[in-house]
Amino acid sequence: MPPRPLLPADMPGMAALHAAAFPPAEAWDADALSLMLGLEGGYGFVVENTGFILARAVAGEAEVLTLAVAPAARRAGTGRALLAAALDGASTRGAHTMFLEVSRNNTGATSLYLSAGFTEVGLRRRYYSDGSDALVLRRDLSAG
Ligand SMILES: CC(C)(COP(=O)(O)OP(=O)(O)OC[C@H]1O[C@@H](n2cnc3c(N)ncnc32)[C@H](O)[C@@H]1OP(=O)(O)O)[C@@H](O)C(=O)NCCC(=O)NCCS
Repeated sequence: MPPRPLLPADMPGMAALHAAAFPPAEAWDADALSLMLGLEGGYGFVVENTGFILARAVAGEAEVLTLAVAPAARRAGTGRALLAAALDGASTRGAHTMFLEVSRNNTGATSLYLSAGFTEVGLRRRYYSDGSDALVLRRDLSAG
């Protein structure tokens, strides 16, 4: 099923997906997700009952806020499809570049991002609650 745009009414379902995908300390509830979607330039996509991505595009720069795929549905291309939709959405909103942060320990997500054309542009030491470093990745949206 292809990704469709996220609506505010989807947030309780997205909170359940987020809780399934992330450790309890990192899970965002429906209020937190609604806040993110409601930020200036906030947007997102969902594959029903499977996964979602939240992003934001402001003043020519876009950012992935979160990406979650249910454990039972992984390695079937959903994460890649959601990321592609978010990249398209960023271009549609006039962004020329997209950034994201990912734990250096999160090898699965990092390889997804690198294979989608992101490159490492920075490091935030001990950025996450588990003490792990964040890699800052960037993709030029004019690169196709
Ligand atoms: C990261 C995540 C979104 C990937 O979702 P997914 O639907 O499984 O991703 P895809 O099936 O589209 O994978 C695309 C490619 O990414 C890479 N990849 C994804 N998961 C991987 C893993 N666990 N190990 C190694 N490579 C992985 C592979 O190159 C994969 O292609 P392949 O399956 O043909 O080898 C999912 O594992 C998840 O929700 N993880 C927990 C939350 C999280 O870490 N979110 C990102 C935070 S920045």
